[in-house]
Amino acid sequence: MSKLGLGSGINPVVSAGATIFRQLKKSRKSSSTASSTTGVVLLFFLIVVLLGAFISVRWINVASIRSITDTDTKTQNLIEIPTTSTSHRAPPPQPLPPKPKLKPKPKPLIIPFSCPIGNQNSTGICPSTPLPPPLSDDASLPPSPSCPDYFRWIHEDLRPWKSTGITQEMVKRARRTANFRLVILDGRAYVEYYRPSFQSRDVFTLWGILQLLRHYPGRIPDLELMFDTVDWPVIMARDYRGRNASVPPPLFRYCADVSTLDIVFPDWSFWGWPEINIKPWEALRRELKEGNERVRWMDREPYAYWKGNPAVAATRQDLLKCNVSEAHDWNARIYAQDWFQETRKGFKESDLANQCIHRYKIYIEGTTWSVSEKYILACNSLTLLVKPRYYDFFTRGLMPVQHYWPVRSNDKCRSIKFAVDWGNSHKQKAQAIGKEASSFIQEKVKMEYVYDYMLHLLTEYAKLLRYKPTRPPNAMELCSESMACPAEGLVKKFMMDSMVKSPHDSAPCTLPPPFSPVELRMLARRTANAIKQVEMWEQRAWESQASKPMQ
Ligand SMILES: *[C@@H]1O[C@H](CO)[C@@H](O)[C@H](O)[C@H]1NC(C)=O
Ligand SMILES: *[C@@H]1O[C@H](CO)[C@@H](O)[C@H](O)[C@H]1NC(C)=O
Ligand SMILES: *[C@@H]1O[C@H](CO)[C@@H](O)[C@H](O)[C@H]1NC(C)=O
Repeated sequence: MSKLGLGSGINPVVSAGATIFRQLKKSRKSSSTASSTTGVVLLFFLIVVLLGAFISVRWINVASIRSITDTDTKTQNLIEIPTTSTSHRAPPPQPLPPKPKLKPKPKPLIIPFSCPIGNQNSTGICPSTPLPPPLSDDASLPPSPSCPDYFRWIHEDLRPWKSTGITQEMVKRARRTANFRLVILDGRAYVEYYRPSFQSRDVFTLWGILQLLRHYPGRIPDLELMFDTVDWPVIMARDYRGRNASVPPPLFRYCADVSTLDIVFPDWSFWGWPEINIKPWEALRRELKEGNERVRWMDREPYAYWKGNPAVAATRQDLLKCNVSEAHDWNARIYAQDWFQETRKGFKESDLANQCIHRYKIYIEGTTWSVSEKYILACNSLTLLVKPRYYDFFTRGLMPVQHYWPVRSNDKCRSIKFAVDWGNSHKQKAQAIGKEASSFIQEKVKMEYVYDYMLHLLTEYAKLLRYKPTRPPNAMELCSESMACPAEGLVKKFMMDSMVKSPHDSAPCTLPPPFSPVELRMLARRTANAIKQVEMWEQRAWESQASKPMQ
């Protein structure tokens, strides 16, 4: 029965503490300094001229200045900025304040959200006008910083359609296994359901897309896509090779592997997984960060810890053999997660942020990828990663020995024992790898980047469409109101907690270019070499042990 892709170490959090909406900080740009002394006078003169011109422009058009001041904190201190988007008229001219004082940042625009009073039905609940696009156009802004490197895989995932584009016929072929079809037109989302999803996967995936529309209003292009919420990737690359082969159908899902062409998309857990009480990522990420402060790495248990559902995969059954027993101590402490028990007890024994008390944490795939990976990597422990087969949207940015310790899948117990022994005798190095993984998750997989990834992926995907999508006759409009207002219990709570309250106040990160074939090969070689190195160390240790008498 278990399609549960939930993996090791997951311990849902009892919802404690209010979720605070995070105001996204503007990145501050530091001003550069002039070096030449001879140019100082000229520079000063230029500044005076520019400032003069700047002030006179202010009388002409306050709205246009807003886009400049948005990116320049220095001028922001000098000039009064209208706080809401509604003030298009220029205020009466005022002299500049005599002494520039630090002003609070303009309040972000709050996107309206309200539910009809009473128990009305939710048809016609969606706002009649979609959100306005941002005030400042990108062209006037300096280029934003580059996205994390793993964004480059977007180009690889879309490569099968690079020369052909995507026709409606291809999209329709992806319907075979899809759970729903999503159409976005003028910033509105329409969905046609084909088959029910496991638990609330589709609900929170669609909720995430609706939040993307709020995060980046006016930026999501018109598009049509098929989404499959089941664990296993299904678009086999081998079926689309050869001269007469057809172009593969584009199908979105949460993970893929090297033999499949499914397009990977962030999974539902970023907005919450109510069935097992895993709260939205933004709050959980911060809790994990705070939790890490509680027990220093040195004070943590010097063992490898895993807790999860062993029933979902043979490789997990195999991992159980590495548990400590009378006969062996492989330095592993393995626990089976009993979700029915946990659910009955209200998840009291499972608090992810309190789980980072071991120096080593094991990650092992379930049926396919596991959402637990980000929680394990965020622990500041050294992640012992049993050789994975699947990738999701961010895991292709991880490097062995840099972010995690590779563990053999065909010799798990000995491999785990070696890793723990190595870490306990190379404490600084082990800690450093653990820290690097935590920073990767904390900084490069924060919600802001999850939305950026979705935006860039959908934008690049939409560029490939060779037709103009239209509203399917059987599709219904979805909006945050139509999903959250009728929702109840934990579903409703997670929706309210993860709801985007204001549009993002700057441009998305800049999508890095595709890998060159050489870069791709080098990356693969670097990964393989790092793993081979560890396997050589293991081999050497085992051989030297074999030559000693048994303990
Ligand atoms: C909801 O209201 C609309 C009219 O506003 C009606 O056509 C529809 O049948 C109602 N749906 C339900 C489930 O009551
Ligand atoms: C490809 O299609 C052509 C024409 O339909 C056919 O003659 C040829 O045998 C096919 N080649 C392969 C490898 O299937
Ligand atoms: C592993 O061993 C520990 C200690 O003996 C035990 O408490 C735990 O239940 C074992 N785990 C499994 C999955 O049997």
